[in-house]
Amino acid sequence: TEVFESNVAVVGAGHVGLTTAACLASLGHRVVCADVDVAKVDGLARGQTGIREPGLSELVADGLTTSRLKFVFGAAAAAPTADVVFLCVPTPMGTDGAADLTAVEAAVREIRGLLPSGCVVVNKSTVPVGTAARTAELLDRADVAVASNPEFLREGSAVEDFLNPDRIVIGARDPGAADRVAALYEGLGAPVLRTGWASAEITKYASNAYLATRLSFVNSIAELCERAGADIGDVTLGMGHDRRIGTSFLRPGPGWGGPCLPKDTHALLRSAEALGGEFPLLRAAIDTNARQRDLVVERVREAVGGRFAGVRVGLLGLTFKAGTDDVRDSPALAVAARMAAEGAELVAHDPAVPGPLPGALSDAPPGDRDRIRVVETAYAAADGAAALVVLTEWPEFRDLDWKRIAGLLLGESVIDTRNVLDASVLDEAGLSCRGVGRPA
Ligand code: UGA
Repeated sequence: TEVFESNVAVVGAGHVGLTTAACLASLGHRVVCADVDVAKVDGLARGQTGIREPGLSELVADGLTTSRLKFVFGAAAAAPTADVVFLCVPTPMGTDGAADLTAVEAAVREIRGLLPSGCVVVNKSTVPVGTAARTAELLDRADVAVASNPEFLREGSAVEDFLNPDRIVIGARDPGAADRVAALYEGLGAPVLRTGWASAEITKYASNAYLATRLSFVNSIAELCERAGADIGDVTLGMGHDRRIGTSFLRPGPGWGGPCLPKDTHALLRSAEALGGEFPLLRAAIDTNARQRDLVVERVREAVGGRFAGVRVGLLGLTFKAGTDDVRDSPALAVAARMAAEGAELVAHDPAVPGPLPGALSDAPPGDRDRIRVVETAYAAADGAAALVVLTEWPEFRDLDWKRIAGLLLGESVIDTRNVLDASVLDEAGLSCRGVGRPA
């Protein structure tokens, strides 16, 4: 589709920016991707993505080979030739829970005088409702349009999600600008939904907040199942057969985490309040999630005889979900930090975290941090531990030599917060496996 070939600038080479840049290049566009991190830009120019994301390195390598993809230092170097500029800079959670727009505003200020007439500036970063309007105001260019085109990429399947999207949402004031953004995705065969700015912005938050709320609901049902002697697997299967509900995103766990769901739920709550409204349901979903992490700690406490001081606990999994090496806002780390604060000695293994301790825990007091050690095998994590806790659903945990683990553990308690293990195999090995949402 040479006809639709565009010049694209992507500002920010993080997870979203890099995936967007590499995928748009693979669709035939000429993409210049900018970042403020010199070392990152140098690495990317040599094809080193530094991100664990299936298919991404290959797309970056292809883009470099065909010269459809270039990496440059600073947004100013990418802006002057662009038909469309994607802003993919971080929007972290500020101290008050609202999204911090410093990086977005800095990028807009940097490029505003450099943009060619007729181009479109697109917010792809997750930004609160009102940001497109604010971007237009900051740009202050009647000849440059602003659009909101939120991403719906999951970590670990971001390339797949980009190239096979369920939908493409484009919020714009000017239909011509929406057309130019839509043209970039020509050929993907996904429904393109054209909306206003605010609707596109809210769609992104509403989707993540809905998913988070759904999980908090499932986790509460799981707890009810335990009390009632029911099995959450059977219950969610039965629910999922209802086409209005659907089967995905119904797995119980130690609570939802990662760089998106926690941040976005808080930000949406703040937006609702800032606009003079309330969102008690979302508040409850967030509180339920915090409680879910507490429940895991309590379950482990019970398994090790009531107190953590001086007790060794083995942990399997540190990342916020399987298939990623990301530990940001990981329930596993939250649970570990809480037990460490009570004096437990944690020995953790994660197939994607080679050690030492992930930076995300660097906020923990040094004494607590010293009580968490990362080891190279699941067996080393189990060795001498009073209990073993599965916190991430890595499928390989299922295939461990559970007889060997039974010989290494001091106790016999295995707590599976993801229902990833085969309880009958553990039973045969002489271990007691406590899952979630199942009778004990
Ligand atoms: C999420 C959304 O799924 C993406 O659509 C969105 O684009 C992205 O955030 C974003 O805003 O950038 P991601 O954070 O990669 O993607 O992870 P998810 O796969 O959604 O998982 C989020 C959390 O929910 C994880 O902690 C996961 O373990 C948990 N989860 C997920 C469950 O506990 N049960 C499930 O059935 C599914």
